[in-house]
Amino acid sequence: MTFLKINNLKVYYPIRGGFFRRVVDHVKAVDDVSFELKQGETYGLVGESGCGKTTTGRTIIGLNKATSGEIIFEGQDLTKLSRRAFHNHRQDIQMIFQDPYSSLNPRKRVLDIVAEPLRNFEKLSAAEEKEKVEYYIEKVGLNPESIYKYPHEFSGGQRQRIGIARALTLKPKLIIADEPVSALDVSVQAQVLNFMQDIQKEFNLTYLFISHDLGIIQHMCDRIGIMYHGQFVEEGTSEEIYSNPQHIYTKRLISAIPDINPENREKQVELRREVNAEYKNSYDKYFNAEGKVHKLKAISDTHSVALP
Ligand SMILES: Nc1ncnc2c1ncn2[C@@H]1O[C@H](COP(=O)(O)OP(=O)(O)OP(=O)(O)O)[C@@H](O)[C@H]1O
Ligand SMILES: [Mg+2]
Repeated sequence: MTFLKINNLKVYYPIRGGFFRRVVDHVKAVDDVSFELKQGETYGLVGESGCGKTTTGRTIIGLNKATSGEIIFEGQDLTKLSRRAFHNHRQDIQMIFQDPYSSLNPRKRVLDIVAEPLRNFEKLSAAEEKEKVEYYIEKVGLNPESIYKYPHEFSGGQRQRIGIARALTLKPKLIIADEPVSALDVSVQAQVLNFMQDIQKEFNLTYLFISHDLGIIQHMCDRIGIMYHGQFVEEGTSEEIYSNPQHIYTKRLISAIPDINPENREKQVELRREVNAEYKNSYDKYFNAEGKVHKLKAISDTHSVALP
């Protein structure tokens, strides 16, 4: 059984207008997307701002409603479950958010922040709850006394660890990490990413890792889906995407990663020039008459591209 399978997912946001606030149009944030996650892997969703990454993640966890399509998690279509039945699944899927400053309630102590999901799902005594929170706080590398402090008493990296502790308390199977390090200093990013890899093994987690940063995605992910305007343009293993990108949009993203090695700089400028020229000259190959990308086609067992 596939761990998580997304079939033809569409998520449209209504645009309202006029005196009666009627729906006049839709933003097609996610427009017919299909992919699957295997248990234990890290799957990366990448693409430029507004391409629909967050909407995809929020819909899987039930924060947004699917317009159509299926989200099959361990054999059950989450889009068809009642509110009550979905509640049971909420334990298995948790989300880590981009901004560790605003995602933690500043007026609550760490104990109450981390215990919040537990209180929604389990009836524990105060002592049991404290013990559990301390366990996870230590797991994420913080001092157990931290539970009596408030979010402002921690650094950005530490706050993200608190957010991760909160996500772990219900022993989830899938964690959706939406730009988990984008708000952190570069020096702290690597620490948090490595830490996420460590706990992945220990807690047997599957990650849906969302980022606009291909460098980070390459470091973290086994497989990658490249999104463009609500659709996939390419999917493959990290290796295939980097060594053999097929879609012009993927090539553009790769050519835009800054190369810190000065010896490669000239090569990169050349690559950018080539990619831009190809983009101008072969638009019709990659986009149909309506300016949309084609459907994904497999070019190997693990690599698909949106080409006619
Ligand atoms: N609540 C909403 N109502 C209407 N439109 C929305 C809403 N949320 C997102 N959108 C639109 O849907 C599209 C996809 O947004 P989404 O936040 O999923 O993109 P993203 O890939 O996560 O971008 P970013 O990298 O900036 O986080 C965008 O055009 C956005 O403006
Ligand atoms: Mg986003």
